[in-house]
Amino acid sequence: MPQIPEKIHELTVGQLAARSGAAVSALHFYEAKGLITSRRTGGNQRRFSRDTLRRVAFIRAAQRVGIPLATIRSALAELPEERTPTREDWARLSEAWRAELDERITQLNRLRDHLTDCIGCGCLSLDTCVLSNPDDKFGERRAGSRLMAEGH
Ligand code: FES
Repeated sequence: MPQIPEKIHELTVGQLAARSGAAVSALHFYEAKGLITSRRTGGNQRRFSRDTLRRVAFIRAAQRVGIPLATIRSALAELPEERTPTREDWARLSEAWRAELDERITQLNRLRDHLTDCIGCGCLSLDTCVLSNPDDKFGERRAGSRLMAEGH
């Protein structure tokens, strides 16, 4: 990963991509979503402050554990003056997100167990397949249909 000399306080999008490991398109996306900001030069080129590197590292680390961008954006917006997350900010937020991650792992384990029941079955039955009809959405409609068929 190329080093950026300390005396450089602003980065082009290419430098930010090279140093952070994020694709230029991802950086544009983060900017469009309000996660990072840049100023424009007279030639309409983006310049990012050096601390955007840490901001991008924060975003990517959070994304890697499956934290939705909207949650990341809220977390960044809640920091005083929307500052770049400090070491303490990341420690606090990552601890809070661990509970969410545990919950998602539990849900995924449950889904995996249901999927195991589907392997080799293929019925996708609304009556019996939990993955096909996870909330039993049509349970009421089935009862209604039966009532109608019975002439009630
Ligand atoms: S496909 Fe038959 S139980 Fe899911």
